[in-house]
Amino acid sequence: MKINTCLPLTKLATALALLLPFAAFADSAKKLEVFSWWTSGGEAAALDALFKVYKERTPGVEIVNATVAGGGGSAARPVLQTRLAGGNPPDTWQAHPGWELLGQYVEPGYCEPLNDLYQSENWGKVLPEQLVKLLTKDGKQWCVLAGVHRGNDLWYNKKVLEKAGIKIGDTISIDEFLADCAKLKAAGVTPLAVGDSGIWATAQLFENTLLGTVGPTGWQDLFSGKMAFDDPKVKQAAQSYAKLLEYQNSDHSALTWDQAIKAVEEGRCAFSSMGDWAHGEFTKANLKDDVDFGWVSHPGTKGGFIVVADGFTLAKNAPHKAETVSWLKSIGSKESQEEFNPLKGSIPIRTDVDKSKFGPYHQWSMKSFASDALLPSCVHGEAAPAAFQQALNDAITQFVVDKNVDAFCSALVQAAKESNITK
Ligand code: GAL
Repeated sequence: MKINTCLPLTKLATALALLLPFAAFADSAKKLEVFSWWTSGGEAAALDALFKVYKERTPGVEIVNATVAGGGGSAARPVLQTRLAGGNPPDTWQAHPGWELLGQYVEPGYCEPLNDLYQSENWGKVLPEQLVKLLTKDGKQWCVLAGVHRGNDLWYNKKVLEKAGIKIGDTISIDEFLADCAKLKAAGVTPLAVGDSGIWATAQLFENTLLGTVGPTGWQDLFSGKMAFDDPKVKQAAQSYAKLLEYQNSDHSALTWDQAIKAVEEGRCAFSSMGDWAHGEFTKANLKDDVDFGWVSHPGTKGGFIVVADGFTLAKNAPHKAETVSWLKSIGSKESQEEFNPLKGSIPIRTDVDKSKFGPYHQWSMKSFASDALLPSCVHGEAAPAAFQQALNDAITQFVVDKNVDAFCSALVQAAKESNITK
C-alpha cells in the first residue's frame, strides 16, 4: 500500500524536477536588473523615464530597479564590486566611461563587448567620436551612454543674488566670485551650498576650481603626467579652494549633494558648484531656467567642459541577456535620449535628437559640448585609475580639516606615482 502511494509522488517529483529548469527559465526570461545610484528626486524621475520607454518597447519584462543611494556612486560602487567579484552580477550597471569602465569592469572581464550592437544600431554615425573613444578598448565598445553631464557648473538662486545686488554675466573669475561671496556673507546670506556627507561633492568643488586654475591644457597635462600635482598652479587651486570653503554652509557635512541644491532652491544659500545633475533637481522642484535659478561655468572654467557621462554595461553571463540587449538598444534610442535627458540635466549623446525638446540650460550645455575642450572628470572616475580617485578623496578629507596645501599636493604626487600617471 505504502509503495503504491509513494509511486505517484515519486513520479510527480521527477516531473517537477524536469520542469523546474524551464520554470526558472520562464521566470528569468521576464526580468531585467538595472543597477545604479539614481535615487535623488531628479535622478529617480529620469531613470523612470528610461524604464517607461523600455516598457513600451519591450512589454512584459519585470524591471528590478537595484539602486544604492549615495551621490556619485560612492556607496553603490563597493556593493557592485562585491557582486561582480562574487559572480553575482546585475544584468546591467551604471558606469562612467574612461578608467572606471575600462579599468574596473572591462579589464577584469566583467563585461560583454557591444560592438555588434553599435554596428546594428548604426551608432557610429550619430555619436561623437571622442565619446565613443572613451568607452572603446581593443576595438570594442563596452557601454551605451544615456547622456553626458557637464561637471563644472556654478548654480545660483536668482532672487537671492538680485536682492544682494549681484549680477552674473556669462563668465566669472575666481576673484570676482570670492568678492561676491564676501558681499553675500556681509549681508547675512550663506554664499556657498555644499553637501559633502559623501566626500566626492566637495572633491567636485576642488576639481572645478582646479580646472579654473590650470585650464584645459593643464588638465590634460596633469592627467597624462606632464604636469606635477605639486605644480604652483595646483597649489594655487588648493589655496582658492580653501578660501571657498570659508563661505560654505556650516551643516555641509550633514547634507547630501541634492540637499545642498535644495538650500539654493529655497534661498538658504546663494550658489552651489555642482555637475548638472543639479539641473534635474531644479526641474523636479518645478523651478524655471533663467527665472528661478541661473548658472555659469564654475569660476575660470569657461571654454572647458568636464565630461561626466553615464553609461550602462552588459554583464558577462548576464542572467537576462536578451532583455539587457533590448535595454541597451532602448537607452541608446532617440526616444530615450529625448525623454531622459531633460529630466536628468544631462545632454543627449546622439547628434540627431530634436533639440527643440530641450530648454535654455540644455541648449547652453549642448553648445558648450560642441565648442569647448572636453575633459574627463577625475572625481567621477574617468580621468585616472580608481586608486587615484580614492587618494584624491582621502587627501580632500584631510585638507578640509587642516588646509595644508603642501601636504595635500604631496599626497597627490605620491598617488599619481603609485597610479602610474606619468609622462
Ligand atoms: C555622477 C553621475 C550622475 C549623477 C551624480 C550624482 O557620478 O554620473 O549621473 O547621478 O553622480 O549622483
